[in-house]
Amino acid sequence: MTVREILHVGNPLLRERSREVTREELASPEVQQLIDDLIDTMRAADGAGIAAPQVGELVRITTIEVNQNPRYPYKPPIPLTIVVNPIIEPIDDEQFENMEGCLSVPKMRGRVPRWVNVRVRYLDREGNEHDEVRRGLAAGTFQHECDHLDGVVFLDRVTDTRTLTTWEMFERYHQAAFFEEMRQFVARVGS
Ligand code: NI
Repeated sequence: MTVREILHVGNPLLRERSREVTREELASPEVQQLIDDLIDTMRAADGAGIAAPQVGELVRITTIEVNQNPRYPYKPPIPLTIVVNPIIEPIDDEQFENMEGCLSVPKMRGRVPRWVNVRVRYLDREGNEHDEVRRGLAAGTFQHECDHLDGVVFLDRVTDTRTLTTWEMFERYHQAAFFEEMRQFVARVGS
């Protein structure tokens, strides 16, 4: 088990566009080890996902997993998913506002508009091709992680900076209302 250091916003590597991984690279011990490291690092930090640039590797790989996450208890579960070379696109105009956080942005959360319904195409760690529709909070998680591969962090997408809050102040002043908002949203869109 290898837990890697997570880079924090301000590190220039988080602002780079990561490059695609070839199938040969994906099959290599080095990239397979990186994927294992991302899983270990994500789980150790209670992240819902982590992208390779967050550990300083500028390749288009992210891992996603939600299983009764203590940082995001309202998020429906997502089984461990390895996402390589993703292409993500909205399939309609519907958006929602998510209250996002990020392992690379310590202590802060803020409101970010996200597409409710996205099509995402990617390779898994074995190189199998996936073409899926993701909805709701799962779609939000995919969009957040894919943003990292283009050097974008959620702070860039906060449209009203007055929604920024520390996690401590979120719990004190905003959590109850947001959890209820998300309960209704999840009941409506299903994930
Ligand atoms: Ni993040």
